[in-house]
Amino acid sequence: MTTFSCITVEQTHALGLQLAKHLTPGDVVILDGPLGAGKTTFTQGIAAGLDVRGPITSPTFVIYRIHPNNAAGPALIHLDAYRLNSLAEVDDLDLDSNLYNAVLVAEWGSGKLENIADEYLVVEFTRNDDDSRRITFIPNGNRWDDLITSGIA
Ligand SMILES: Nc1ncnc2c1ncn2[C@@H]1O[C@H](COP(=O)(O)OP(=O)(O)OP(=O)(O)O)[C@@H](O)[C@H]1O
Ligand SMILES: [Mg+2]
Repeated sequence: MTTFSCITVEQTHALGLQLAKHLTPGDVVILDGPLGAGKTTFTQGIAAGLDVRGPITSPTFVIYRIHPNNAAGPALIHLDAYRLNSLAEVDDLDLDSNLYNAVLVAEWGSGKLENIADEYLVVEFTRNDDDSRRITFIPNGNRWDDLITSGIA
């Protein structure tokens, strides 16, 4: 587990960009935290780091969007699990079939997305009174233990 403090929007964006440098196809990243905590801002940083086609917005009217890579890297599947009610609904999306060449980033994914992969990274956002954000990386599985131990910087 590692915690970062991001005082500005730019720092939250930069942390996502930094994480993206380590992401490979099949990776699942679950973003957890209240409304306005910075999940989409962080995802925009991931998108910039992966170099995928934008724009990245909160997918309000769709459950997820697939952003193709501008070069040869993985696509970004940006999922908003807010309206999903069960693991069965997640299964119905058939995301697995797209994951072979994509990275999945799921806002509101806690408690719903854990079954989709054996290993996943949880990123937890909390908002402080001064508007800074506490962003904690919680690894699940060897792949993420190793990454968090060696550091993403
Ligand atoms: N340090 C910071 N890091 C991230 N965002 C910040 C920070 N300080 C202020 N903000 C503002 O907080 C808001 C974060 O919004 P964002 O859409 O990223 O949150 P979200 O967690 O995706 O919300 P939702 O749950 O509604 O999808 C933005 O308006 C951003 O400008
Ligand atoms: Mg959002």
